[in-house]
Parts: sequence; structure tokens; C-alpha cells
Amino acid sequence: MCGIVGYIGKRQAYPILIKGLQRLEYRGYDSAGIALIHNENLNVYKAKGKVADLVRFADQQDTQGTIGIAHTRWATHGEPNQVNAHPHFSQSEELALIHNGIIENYAVLKEGLTEQGYTFSSETDTEVLIQLIEYVKNSNKVDLTKAVQLALNQVVGAYAIAVIEKGQPDTIVAARKGSPLVVGIGKDEFFLASDASPIVEYTDQVVYVGEEEIVTMRRGKELKIKTISNVTKTPEIKKLEMTLTQLEKGGYPHFMLKEIFEQPKTLSDSMRGRVNVDENNITLSGFIDNKEKFLNAKRIIITACGTSWHAGLIGMYAIEEFARIPVEVEYSSEFRYRKPVINKDDIVIAISQSGETADTLAAVELAKSKGAFIFGICNVVGSSIPRNTHSGCYTHAGPEIGVASTKAFTAQVTVLTMLALMIGREKGTLTEDQYLRTVHELGKIPEKIKTILRQNDAIAQFAKTFTYAQNFIYMGRGYNFPVALEGALKLKEISYIHAEGYPAAEMKHGPIALINQEMPVVVIATSAGMYDKVVSNIQEIKARKGKIISIITEGDVVVKNLSDYTISIPDTEECLVPLLAVIPLQLMAYHIAVVKGCDVDQPRNLAKSVTVE
Ligand code: G6P
Repeated sequence: MCGIVGYIGKRQAYPILIKGLQRLEYRGYDSAGIALIHNENLNVYKAKGKVADLVRFADQQDTQGTIGIAHTRWATHGEPNQVNAHPHFSQSEELALIHNGIIENYAVLKEGLTEQGYTFSSETDTEVLIQLIEYVKNSNKVDLTKAVQLALNQVVGAYAIAVIEKGQPDTIVAARKGSPLVVGIGKDEFFLASDASPIVEYTDQVVYVGEEEIVTMRRGKELKIKTISNVTKTPEIKKLEMTLTQLEKGGYPHFMLKEIFEQPKTLSDSMRGRVNVDENNITLSGFIDNKEKFLNAKRIIITACGTSWHAGLIGMYAIEEFARIPVEVEYSSEFRYRKPVINKDDIVIAISQSGETADTLAAVELAKSKGAFIFGICNVVGSSIPRNTHSGCYTHAGPEIGVASTKAFTAQVTVLTMLALMIGREKGTLTEDQYLRTVHELGKIPEKIKTILRQNDAIAQFAKTFTYAQNFIYMGRGYNFPVALEGALKLKEISYIHAEGYPAAEMKHGPIALINQEMPVVVIATSAGMYDKVVSNIQEIKARKGKIISIITEGDVVVKNLSDYTISIPDTEECLVPLLAVIPLQLMAYHIAVVKGCDVDQPRNLAKSVTVE
């Protein structure tokens, strides 16, 4: 949800900022803007649309300067147009600010500033904040850092901000609460960004800005940190684990396709050092360090959003089956507001690719305040959720850039499965035979995914047939029900075709009324699980002339003969089927979207990291 970048140092800021915006474009792409100080001028250029539109406009202007800030926007307040784009000027045009987040009390602040004679040219909450900073600065006659501190004391909401001042070409002031912010430390230069991807090219030394901290970056000086309540902090420098090649497409036409094809590797990375197939063993240090908590847990609550919520559902099936602990899976946005009953012996598992999703972070805070033990399953190392949980387990899927999540999903399911197996074994609720078989099979999953990926061309071929469709239904049962939900979500997100996932037996309670010869129905009908029941459900669709696309286990002819199209996947343990069955669904959604000419990596209205609620 909005990406921010900043630079101060010896180099020209413009190319660094533009490249940084391109790396952060997954966070929002409604409009983009840049502010640069050159000589006596504070130049601000903005454009509706993507970073490429900004470049087309800004390239014609004076883009010189060794200090600047830039922004790519996902609109919250005010439509995505040039006026509402960031950076925003203060009234005097002495200050410029970029912001990721929401200022919740902006209306009250705006009213107060209007009474003081301030006028506003945009509809944004951000413009209110920069006007407030200017007002506070002038009325208290303080420097920029102090003005930011005083202003933020009046603000309710979430933010990552960066501010520059016309007469101060040697200083950037930035701050955060809720939204992420990272400072890269180079030699006599600073980089600033919403995540480390714009920074990795220049330095591997970073400081993750903490909650309610204000950082002051002065040319040639050390980084200074103060909290909003005026406590001085010592910067904690960390080494980045990310590499530049992880952020490039590596010959693939889209990040999404690259990330789908990376899954054999990402799942191996996820299991590396954790699954030992030779010794038939799983070791998750996050579990071992907190074994008693898991063994004594009366209930596990999984909280997440979007694709991560689907992974959570699969986790529920596995934990209940293997560990016999009751599990509830909650949308973070509902959980945080519905006065849930949370007990001290509950474990709350927060799942998040980005580790920044505002609702999931708030759900974590709520559960923590009620005394529950919080376990995070996140992908982005050093992000806010892992920093706010008691313990956890990284998924190690590497940077995921495509807005539609793919490899992060399978890595989340892998971690949840490992966790379920470990708890079950320790509790004795899982037979040793089942444990050994599943661990052994888990180790084979990366190779089995490779065999599915070999069907990419065939999937691309038949996907062309379905670009006519206005609607799709996905169905599955048991472990494959969340896969149906995830398959439908992938298609919706990137091809804009309406799609619904259903437990197959629920079809007769409504959705079957939609079936006619136009309606493609994707059925996950693998042999493990309730195969016969799903076959009956397929018959019911077939009788109404629906078009059947089935995901079957290799060798199955019964479902194949009932289907218009089939994709086979290798056989495996029932709990591991989702890791295989989702792959053809990701590919199918991808190819349909490509044929329809959609922007696969940056679908309309979406953002990868949802840092506003
Ligand atoms: C956004 C993304 C989804 C993601 C969801 C939750 O909607 O587009 O791909 O599943 O947020 O994000 P998280 O980072 O918490 O997994």
C-alpha cells in the first residue's frame, strides 16, 4: 500500500529514486511522484498512472539534485489523479512530504488548520499532515525533526513518512508507525524505502525503523533516531539477506510466472535444515523453543488475510488431523474488531507473506494484549509481524514481487504442515507410521511440482479456450476445499473473471443453479480424500452441461472421462495434495490473464502489501 523511497548522498538522486519506485511498484500503482532539491529549488513532479508515466513527464524537467524523496501510490483518500499524488507541498511550498498509511483524524486536523488560514489543494489526508508539520514548525520556531515530532504527537493513524525542506538540502526526516520503513546506510549516503528492495543494490547495511521512531538523515553525518515521545535511540544496523538477482525476472515475461516456476526451489528452501528425509525427522526451532506452549494449548487461532488465510485453512485441517488441537481460522480484519474470546492458553498463529498487513498486525497486538502466545509465519525477514510475535518461523520463499501470491502460499502450507507434524508427534496423536510416511513424502514434493510445471504449455493452450468466460466455479473437498478458494482468488485477482470457490457438496445449496454449458467448473478430484463423493459431485455438474476442468491424480480414468479438460498431478499423502493441486490452478489463472491482455504482475486496484486496514 504505497511505496516510499528517499536518497541523500553524493550521487544524483533521480535515477536511484525511479529505480526504487519501480521495485516498490507492487505496493501500489495509481500515481507516482518525486521531489528533488536542486540549488535553491524544491522541485516536485507527479503523474497519474504508473512509474513509467512519471518518468515520461519528469524526464522533460530539471531532475538534478543529490537529495530527494519519491512515492508510488495506492489511493485511500481521494481518487488517483495528479493532484492527489504524492509528494505533497506545504502551504508555503517550503516542505514536501510522502506518506504510506492513513491519518485517521485528518478531518479534525484539517478543520483546525483551515481556521488558521491554511488551504488545501488535494483531497488527501497526507496534505493535512504536511500542513500540520509546517504550522507546528512555524509556530514553535523549531527545526524539521522537532516539527515532525510535535506534529506526529497530534496524529492518530498509521504512517511511514519522509519530509524534505527547500532551505535544508542536507537533511531528510522520516518516521513510522504501523507502516514499514528501512534505512540503508552507505558511505556518506543514506537510502530510505518501504522495504529493502530499492536499497539492496547499493548497500547491505540497514536499519529497520522502529514503531513511533523518527530518523534524521544528514549528509555526511551519522543516522539519528528519536522516538515521538523524545527518547534517543541507538541505530541497530542489520545485514541484508536479500540479493539483487532475487528481484529480477530472470528471463521470465512476468514475476508471477517466475515465482510459480521457483516453487520446487522455494519449498526446498523452506524445508532446508528443517526436514531431514534420511533421518525421517522435522526440526522447527520455533516449535522446539516453545514446545510446552504447543503441547498444552487448548486452542489454536490462525489469523491472516487473502491467500495467507487460505493457507491457514489448510493448516487447520493438518493441525486438527495430526495434533488434535481445535483450530479456528479468522480473517484478521474481522477478528480484531469482533471482541473475540482469547485465553492465555490459546496460541495465535499469524500468517503473512509481507509481515506488514495492517489487520493481521492489529490482530497480533490484540491477541498479545489478552495474554495469548503469538507465533508468526511470515516471509519478509525483519518485517513488522515477526518483530511483534513471541516466536515464529520464516517461510524462506524469497522476495515475492507478483501481486498475486504463489510461492509464498505453498511455503506457508509447507511450514504449517511441518508444524502440525511436529506437534502431533510430540503429543502422540499421530501414528509413527503416518509421521514417517508424511515426512518422506514432504521431501519429494519439490520434484513432484517439477513434473506438474512440465505441463505448462498444455495448460497455456487450453487456457485460451476460457477467455470468453464471465464466471468460473472451483470446487474441492477436505484439504482441497481451500485450494478451490485459492484457485478462484488467483483467477479473480489477475484476469478479472468472477470466480467462486466452493466445498463441492455445497453446490446443491445454491451455486448449481448457475450451471449451464457456458460455465467452466474446475474440480479438484484427486484420489486421496473423498474421491467417490467428488465424482458424484462432478456427475451432478455434468448432468447440467457444465464444462469440467479437473485436477486428477495420475492414472485416474474415471474423472478424466467425465471431464472436458484434465491436468494430472502425482499421487501423494492427502495433506500434501494442496501443494501440488494449486500449481496447475496458478498456471491456468496466469495464462488466462495473459491471453486477456491483463497486467498480471500489477492487477488493477490491488496492492501486494496492505498496510492500511
Ligand atoms: C494482499 C495481497 C495478497 C495477500 C494478502 C495478505 O491482498 O495482494 O496476495 O494474500 O494481501 O497479505 P500478507 O502479506 O499478509 O500475506
